[in-house]
Amino acid sequence: MNILVTGASSGVGFEAVLELLLSGKHKVIALARSQDKLERLAEIAAGLNPDCILYPIAFDIVHDDYHDLLQFINTHFDNRIDILINNAGVLVNKPFAQLLETDFVEMLQSNFIGHVRIIQSLFHLMPQGAHILNIGSMGGYQGSAKFPGLAAYSASKAALHNLTECLAQEFIEQGIKVNCLALGSAQTEMLEKAFPGYESPVMAFEMGKYIADFAVTGHRFFNGKVLPVAVSTP
Ligand SMILES: NC(=O)c1ccc[n+]([C@@H]2O[C@H](COP(=O)([O-])OP(=O)(O)OC[C@H]3O[C@@H](n4cnc5c(N)ncnc54)[C@H](OP(=O)(O)O)[C@@H]3O)[C@@H](O)[C@H]2O)c1
Repeated sequence: MNILVTGASSGVGFEAVLELLLSGKHKVIALARSQDKLERLAEIAAGLNPDCILYPIAFDIVHDDYHDLLQFINTHFDNRIDILINNAGVLVNKPFAQLLETDFVEMLQSNFIGHVRIIQSLFHLMPQGAHILNIGSMGGYQGSAKFPGLAAYSASKAALHNLTECLAQEFIEQGIKVNCLALGSAQTEMLEKAFPGYESPVMAFEMGKYIADFAVTGHRFFNGKVLPVAVSTP
């Protein structure tokens, strides 16, 4: 399958790409802003599976022009995306009183508008049976435990959760399934920023494997669902 993963330069996105490439069944475009980290991803992927087909591309889902990306997909992916994993994200951890409007704008752009932009740019390339998988957070999950300092981040993730439900309805005719995994915790740089010193029982590679598996199979069983993926709080 032709799979595009955003936020692939570190954390669970990095691990999900490696997992997807292990089987040799998929071609993957991996996006993130950090070229050097993407090069490391490519080296590790080639070490694990020398035949893997990975296209790492330095790309900012919020600010970059999608024209060149669309051209690339046309050339290398036959103008078809089967699975889109919207995993890119950023987090600001500040008490509400210190949060600036620019913090809210950054959270909404990176965790919501960026995903809107990429979905709007690519959904017409997605065939019947395709899957859009958004990576949300327990912080944005209705009724979950909330934590001081994470208001802007959590609210932006709640917007992504709601978008998931809306688009699942809107894309019914096209046969595109849309789901969201609301992650609890996995040991990554972002978790350290959110909860300094906290050790998650879930390693990044374990969550990456879960995301990869769900992206490939989850839409046979779910559509329009925001699913909590958490064994602990956080
Ligand atoms: N780890 C957890 O416990 C946890 C819990 C709940 C939800 N999540 C969610 O899981 C996802 C992955 O997070 P993580 O924990 O693996 O954190 P991470 O290691 O910080 O990964 C975030 C990724 O997003 C990329 N990114 C950020 N802004 C981008 C942009 N504008 N364009 C393209 N790429 C961008 C980053 O790469 P560059 O900086 O190179 O662009 C990086 O590859 C996020 O959506 C996060 O909210 C994680």
